[in-house]
Amino acid sequence: MPENHILVIFGASGDLTWRKLMPALYELRHQEMLPQRFAVLGMGRSALDDTSFRNKIKEGIRQFGRKEITRDDKIADFVENIYFLSADPQQFESFMLLKNRLASLDEMYGTKGNYIYYLSTPPALYGIIADNLNKAGMCGYCGTDGWKRLIVEKPFGYNLETAKALNKKLLDNFSEDQLYRIDHYLGKETAQNILVTRFFNGFFEPLWNRNYIDRVEITSAESVGVEGRGGYYDKSGALRDMLQNHLLQLVALTAMEPPTVITPTAIRNEFLKVFQSLRPMTEKDIMKNVIRGQYTASVIKGVSVPGYKEEPDVNPQSRTETYVAIKFFIDNWRWGGVPFYIRTGKKLPTRVTEIVIHFKPTPHPHLLKEIEKTQAGNMLIIRIQPDEGILMKFGMKEPGTGFNVKQANLEFKYASSDNSFVLGSYERLIHDCMIGDASLFSRGDAVEAAWEFVDPILKAWETNCDIKLYGYPAGTWGPKVADELMGNNNTWRYPCKNLSDDGLYCEL
Ligand code: BG6
Repeated sequence: MPENHILVIFGASGDLTWRKLMPALYELRHQEMLPQRFAVLGMGRSALDDTSFRNKIKEGIRQFGRKEITRDDKIADFVENIYFLSADPQQFESFMLLKNRLASLDEMYGTKGNYIYYLSTPPALYGIIADNLNKAGMCGYCGTDGWKRLIVEKPFGYNLETAKALNKKLLDNFSEDQLYRIDHYLGKETAQNILVTRFFNGFFEPLWNRNYIDRVEITSAESVGVEGRGGYYDKSGALRDMLQNHLLQLVALTAMEPPTVITPTAIRNEFLKVFQSLRPMTEKDIMKNVIRGQYTASVIKGVSVPGYKEEPDVNPQSRTETYVAIKFFIDNWRWGGVPFYIRTGKKLPTRVTEIVIHFKPTPHPHLLKEIEKTQAGNMLIIRIQPDEGILMKFGMKEPGTGFNVKQANLEFKYASSDNSFVLGSYERLIHDCMIGDASLFSRGDAVEAAWEFVDPILKAWETNCDIKLYGYPAGTWGPKVADELMGNNNTWRYPCKNLSDDGLYCEL
C-alpha cells in the first residue's frame, strides 16, 4: 500500500489525463490499491475549476474505464478528491500558487509533502517545469519535507542529442532515483512474463542462447492509422514512436541476463547492458537491413481509406515512415551471431504484438528436409497482445507409414487461467511509482543507449537520398521487400491467415 500522497498532473486538461490516467486511478481505487488519504491536483492553462474538471474526469471514466466497475455513485465519490489549478506551467509565479495549494491540501489530507509530479505536457515544457519546481523549492532533495517523484511521459527526446539534453535538465533538478520515465510496454503483464518464462523454467533457460536459437522475431502490428495524431506522428514516425522505446524494451526483456537480485538497480543494469551491446549500424548496414514504408490509399473490405499523406495535419509531401523493419545483432556472449528482426507499422491487417523465438533444427538429414517442406521448425511464440499467451510449435510424426512430420501446438492462454484479470499498464506503473519501485521504468543511461543505436538510422534517412521509402497499400503487411530481410527462405510469421470477419482479431 502506498504512503499517503498527492499526485500533481501537469497538462491535466489534455487527452492523456481523462482517457488513461484518471480511469487508471479509478481502477486502482476499485482494487483498493490507493492510499487511505490521496488527492489529485491537476494543473493546466485551461480555464477550469474543481467542479468543471471533475465533470470532465467523470465523463472520461465513464467512457474509458472498465465497464464492469463504472458506477455513477462510485465515480462521484472518487472525483471528490480531485482538484484543478488553472495556471501556466511556463510562468514561475504559477509554482508559488501551486506550492500554496499543495500546502493546504497537505493539511486537509495529512500527506506530509509527499508528491508525485506527472509530466503530461508537450515535451518542450518538461525542462521548464523541472526548473520551476526546483526554483520554487519543490524538488525534495533540495530541503523540503516529504518525498517527491517525477513521472515523465514519452517521447523522451527526439534523438540522442535532445534525449541527453533532457536527461541533463532533469538531473539538474532531481536525482535519478526520483525519476520515473514511463514506457507503457513495460507495464504490460505479458511483457513482464517474458522474464518468468525465461528464468523460472528449466526447460527454456538452458536453450536461451546462440547455441540453440536461430533467430528472434518481434512483430508489433497495428491496424489503426494515426487516429487524429497526424501533427505529432508526422514529426515522429514508426522508428521513434514504437521502435526506439517499446520494442527495444521487448528486446531487452528477451535478451537480458538474469539480474543477480530483484532490485530496480540490478534489473535496470541488465537492460542497459543489452542496449550497450546492440551492434552499431553503419550506413551500409542501414541500406541493407532497415526497410521503411508509408501506407498509401487503399480499399479495405470495400471501404476506401486514405493514404498517410492525406491524413489530417500530415504534410502532403511527408517522408515520415509508418512502417519499419530491421535486422540487427546483439554483440555479447549469449547472442553473438543470432539475428534479431523487428517490424512495426500502422494500417497493417490486424493488431498483434508477439515475439517468436526460432530454435535451430536438429542435424538429422531426413528430418531437416521435413522441416523445409513443412516450415515446421521449433518455435516459441510469446503473444503480448491480443489473445495473450504462449504457444510452442514442434514437429510430430504424422500417423501412418513413413516418418512424415507435421507441426503440433502446445499452448497457454491467459484467458483460460483462474485469475485472468490483468491490471492495465498505466495502473501497474502508476502504482509502482506510488510505492517507489522504479524497476519497470527506463533509467536515463538506458534511454541514451537505446538512442545511440537508433540515431544513425535517423541521420542516414535524413541525409542519404538513396535510401528508399517504400509505399504499401493500407491494410497490407507493409513493403514486400521486408520479406527479404531474413534470407535463407525464412519469412516473418504471418499469424493471422484466418482473420475473423471484422479483420481485427487473430488467434494465437
Ligand atoms: C504509443 C504510440 O506509445 O503506443 C502509438 O505513440 C501506438 O502510436 C501505441 O499506437 C501502441 O500501444 P499499444 O499498447 O496499443 O500497443
